[in-house]
Amino acid sequence: MTEKIETDVLVVGGGPGGYVAAIRAGQLGLKTTLVEADRLGGTCLIRGCIPSKAMIHVAAKFDELSHHVGAGKLGIRLPQAPQFDLGQAVDWKETIVDKLNTGVAALLKRAKVRVVLGKAVFSDAKNCIASTANGEVAINAKHVILATGSIVAGLPSIPYGEHVWSSTEALLQRDVPKRLAVIGAGYIGLELGMAYARMGSQLVFVEALDRILTLFDRGLTKPVENWLKQRHIDVHLNTRAQALIDGPDGRALEVKTTDGTLSRLYCDKVLIAVGRKPATQGFGLERMAVDMEGPFVKVDAQCRTSMRGVFAIGDLVGEPMLAHKASAQGEMVAEIIAGHRRAFAPVAIPAVCFTEPELVGVGLTPDDAKAQGIDIIVGQFPFAANGRSLAMQAGADGGFVRITARADNHLVLGIHAVGAHVSELSGEYALALEMGARLEDLSGTIHAHPTMSETLPEAALAALGHAIHS
Ligand code: NAI
Repeated sequence: MTEKIETDVLVVGGGPGGYVAAIRAGQLGLKTTLVEADRLGGTCLIRGCIPSKAMIHVAAKFDELSHHVGAGKLGIRLPQAPQFDLGQAVDWKETIVDKLNTGVAALLKRAKVRVVLGKAVFSDAKNCIASTANGEVAINAKHVILATGSIVAGLPSIPYGEHVWSSTEALLQRDVPKRLAVIGAGYIGLELGMAYARMGSQLVFVEALDRILTLFDRGLTKPVENWLKQRHIDVHLNTRAQALIDGPDGRALEVKTTDGTLSRLYCDKVLIAVGRKPATQGFGLERMAVDMEGPFVKVDAQCRTSMRGVFAIGDLVGEPMLAHKASAQGEMVAEIIAGHRRAFAPVAIPAVCFTEPELVGVGLTPDDAKAQGIDIIVGQFPFAANGRSLAMQAGADGGFVRITARADNHLVLGIHAVGAHVSELSGEYALALEMGARLEDLSGTIHAHPTMSETLPEAALAALGHAIHS
């Protein structure tokens, strides 16, 4: 028999957008139901952000140990090369994923959210059937929050399979491939590719554009390019992968440059990381009568779709496809449904890339600001001139923090950084922009010594023309 649920709020998708929306709606006393087809936590917790960061950590630790073999480093000598067991590392990573998955379940329970584990398929905008392990559940909702996220894009000519991974499979392997070809030198390709390189794979990149990581400007990506060069990792720019060939000489990616030159890159496995696309298929979206905007569901500043009472958040509604944007929208939508006056108007959404070294971008770059006709001043400070960075071997990668501010009133428009550990500095950068900080606010805030955060007031002083330490 079909169970029937009447609910104030139905959240579709249990990722960082959906589960946050559901928790907040529950906290606000709304009768809330969350439907999730897979595991609570979504792409981010189960097969994305968190497991990839765990594997990047393991790879860095192993790589680091390898540098202490023989003559040693920092007075630490290892008599022989460390050994690496990817299977064991993946098992450890899964314990973290499990912890977060059960943590999310506990938070939803505390907020009195009813969780239905099954796939929801809508018959109209407010009604769906969820197929669960225990049968069908028919759900009727006053408000619907669509948070179905995104799926990996693929290449039709190179289908996923045993030798061709998406990021999901790349995080589940038990053996390190000898030669790994990565298609796409963006966020995922670089983060996971570099991790595999540190685990011992011989790496090669194929990138369609004329440079890596186009989200960040050339100044910022230079230290990342240098890392790749030092490791002798080839990056084939202006090149597209055409096909995977299993020939007499072994497996090879056939690639073509923009000028038409064909060549073969021999490899054991391939990782495709050519972007993600919104998950709009398979749940009856076409019967919900919502307007689309390109591949995304169209929403206004309150994340309302064109259908009354139906909201959409996260990757489903557009760039940036980042977990923290989805969570912020989820929390906001729950409050709007509860009657609060809210709109999604952040000054900036930070972007962090966990490459070697790490990158952070918040707000406008100097080029962005100039393109908008804003008269700017820019201050930059190298981590090589920061004591704490040197004490953590973090200054030598060419990293720096750069502040872009209005020339007239010194309002900070953007803060960007590249260097080891900079991801952990991103919160202060975002806060500065969101609070409307001026250069004088940053230079006048006493930052603890010795910390990497001291580079921010120094960069602000540099923009004002009187840096102390450079
Ligand atoms: P991406 O958009 O960052 O990079 C894809 C790259 O593939 C681009 O440089 C593109 O030019 C290239 N490309 C596309 N088609 C190609 C072809 N046929 N041959 C060669 N190159 C080709 O996408 P990615 O890395 O897959 O990541 C997807 C999304 O996931 C990102 O947009 C980001 O929002 C999110 N993400 C966020 C992370 C973070 O916050 N640290 C980490 C990983 C992903």
